[in-house]
Amino acid sequence: MSKTLLVTGGAGFIGVNFCNYWLKKYPDDQVIALDILSYAGNRHSLEQAEKNDRFSFVKGDILDQSLVETLLREQKVDDIVHFAAESHVDRSITGPDQFLETNIIGTHSLLKAARQVWLTEQADSTHRFHHVSTDEVYGTLTADDPAFSETTAYQPNSPYSASKAASDHMVRAYHHTYGLDVTTSNCSNNYGPFHFPEKLIPLCIINILSGKPLPIYGDGQQIRDWLYVEDHCRGIDLVLTNGRAGETYNIGGNNEKANIDLVKALCDLVDARFAEQTDLKQRFPDAPASKGQASDSLITYVADRPGHDRRYAVDASKASNELGYEPQESFENALGKTLDWYLDNENWWRTVLDGSYRDWIDEQYGS
Ligand SMILES: NC(=O)c1ccc[n+]([C@@H]2O[C@H](COP(=O)([O-])OP(=O)(O)OC[C@H]3O[C@@H](n4cnc5c(N)ncnc54)[C@H](O)[C@@H]3O)[C@@H](O)[C@H]2O)c1
Repeated sequence: MSKTLLVTGGAGFIGVNFCNYWLKKYPDDQVIALDILSYAGNRHSLEQAEKNDRFSFVKGDILDQSLVETLLREQKVDDIVHFAAESHVDRSITGPDQFLETNIIGTHSLLKAARQVWLTEQADSTHRFHHVSTDEVYGTLTADDPAFSETTAYQPNSPYSASKAASDHMVRAYHHTYGLDVTTSNCSNNYGPFHFPEKLIPLCIINILSGKPLPIYGDGQQIRDWLYVEDHCRGIDLVLTNGRAGETYNIGGNNEKANIDLVKALCDLVDARFAEQTDLKQRFPDAPASKGQASDSLITYVADRPGHDRRYAVDASKASNELGYEPQESFENALGKTLDWYLDNENWWRTVLDGSYRDWIDEQYGS
């Protein structure tokens, strides 16, 4: 049976990938993206989805409960997939307030809208609220600790992860208190196309191509479990479709890497691409590979950020055993695909870097 999904944060990195994934995989479903278009939201990224008549975009705030209620009612939304958030840890350290507002109050506002329309007005209908969260709610691990499971105690260490933890608790509470059908997924670090250039992988790709330093926090030994964004979308699909109501599922990439090793792997990949594709030297004359140098010469160690978690690792065996979730991409292949996407979509990241992606939106759609 066909469905209508409301995807909050649909113009952000994972939201865009998810809209494209869903429209392709479910040819009868409707997808509505709701996004406030904060600095991290880019409607240009939804160009492919916008060509599809089963897709629509609504510029709006998840804090606007009445707007969300109207959408749920009038568009007959079956499920909400909730990505909208402030998502950058560094920004949460310099300005935590917006994180509390969007991630906690915003999630609560969505829950209130879902309760009003789905439980009060449409009591006999079936709906699901899927909440997208992070492994960072579990805190940090030492090198020998077992990976985070769904029963690991929450110990968030940054304002970002604390705000996500609070939102997870509210989602859970709406299930236990009011009977709202909810699921939550806590996933590890994503990478792939449309990733905003403030995050580690796109930042490093763009800095290598521009001949700029590659800043590495502290000793670079912070370990993350890297998950290709399409594998994350598959995991959310499985939880939304087959997950048990009220349950949480961890989604990981089985792919722990220290930041410094990740950046070195990226440097090697870029050097290999420059050796294979001669036009890259003309397109990116400032890249070390254009001057006969290795990209890793750009690596520069900088002071560690406060409270930097040492290691995250995700045990995804619950999703694997119950739902058949397995990441399909190998790290090497998916990192190569990601690099190639940035090489092929120079205009996308240049317009993000210089801020002109906002003018593009005005030109295309009016302010
Ligand atoms: N990127 C990762 O590696 C990762 C890992 C684990 C979990 N997550 C979670 O996945 C979700 C999506 O992450 P992302 O990397 O795509 O984030 P992102 O920052 O790229 O996108 C967030 C989107 O939310 C929108 N938004 C912000 N405030 C809003 C509001 N008040 N109303 C409507 N829209 C609003 C922004 O405009 C943006 O488009 C987040 O909830 C994040 O916590 C991300």
